Amino acid sequence: MDKQLEWIMHLDKTYYVNVFGDRVPVAFTHGKGVYLYATDEKRYMDLLGGIAVNVVGHANPRLVKAISGQARKFIHCSSHYYIEGQSELARALVQKSFADRVFLCNSGAEANEAAIKLARAYFYKKGAPRAKIISAIHSFHGRTLATITATGQEKYSKPFAPLPEGFIHVPFNNIEAMRAAVDSDTCAVLLELVQGESGILPADVEYIKAVRELCTETGALLILDEVQTGIGRTGTLFAYEQFGIIPDILTTAKGLAGGVPIGAMLATENAASGFAPGDHGSTFGGNPLAAAAALAVLEEIDQRELMKNAKVVGDYLMKKLRQIQKRTGSIAEVRGMGLLIGIELSSPIAVEVRKMCFEKGYLVNSIGTSVIRIAPPLIISKRQAAAFISALSEILSL
Ligand SMILES: Cc1ncc(COP(=O)(O)O)c(C=O)c1O
Repeated sequence: MDKQLEWIMHLDKTYYVNVFGDRVPVAFTHGKGVYLYATDEKRYMDLLGGIAVNVVGHANPRLVKAISGQARKFIHCSSHYYIEGQSELARALVQKSFADRVFLCNSGAEANEAAIKLARAYFYKKGAPRAKIISAIHSFHGRTLATITATGQEKYSKPFAPLPEGFIHVPFNNIEAMRAAVDSDTCAVLLELVQGESGILPADVEYIKAVRELCTETGALLILDEVQTGIGRTGTLFAYEQFGIIPDILTTAKGLAGGVPIGAMLATENAASGFAPGDHGSTFGGNPLAAAAALAVLEEIDQRELMKNAKVVGDYLMKKLRQIQKRTGSIAEVRGMGLLIGIELSSPIAVEVRKMCFEKGYLVNSIGTSVIRIAPPLIISKRQAAAFISALSEILSL
């Protein structure tokens, strides 16, 4: 281990709150495209992209120019004033989606928090308050108190009781369970289209269509959490476009500003009417720096046709992974959409496989004991993907 890494690890172990335990023993000094370079100068292909964040790759020239250009002008001012980039970004997101209005914040959890508040406020303002939010078992919606409560995994919420009231969890992809849960006190159904944090589990198209109908019938708002699936990752700007429905509210974050912290809540005019001046806000949300970064990311996605690339390279990866599955039997299932892919291994060796990938210079992540997740920058080429496939194939043939 080199001295610089040793020192960084010492600082972390001494001073940082221990919420990450033993991290992967590496620290990066810089990156370029799909590669990250460590303190010992070793190069790694980044197939995780900061967990679906670095959509335009590392040190992307357009993004760097936008951020540095904005920093030279001004980084921040209060939302008490009109902010050009914030308004332009809201317009861009509206023009590219179902939405009529946008609220900007700083993370996925905050975007979901805004959506939950909006759903409750919407019915409160109508004079007919509704409390219940229905979400799915195995979902993940963030780390704030409301979003850990919405998250359908007790391990994230148990130590933090008492939790906010009114959250109900139902099995994912099970329309009967959803029908049994939604009633006249339900203000919203909150779902991911691919459950990212529990092993890349895509929703069924028929299920999502039926949930949409159910929400329309009962008046409940449909909130889609596209924090992980949004911003081109699945081959379209948002995954809902591939499900033939539109939500009332959508949240996104991760990839939106290519690594600069940001979150966004998109809503129809009707749903957005639930918020009045003073109901919600954020110091940093949609500040000039984050907005400039997000505008540059959206432009880069368009100019370089990165959504198309996500579909083409994603399909290629899944095809090749299924070939490994057939040949070696070491893979039980390959799941995903575009460049959000889960590789379910036939035995609980995901941590070992992740470590072997790392040794060979490939960054992937393991979920639980048997799933490997990849969510690389959308700029990844077929040639780069092929290099990973050949390394993984070797590892799984051992
Ligand atoms: C689907 C989903 N929602 C919400 C979040 C929370 O986002 P953040 O960590 O930016 O608060 C995540 C993060 O992994 C996520 O995957």
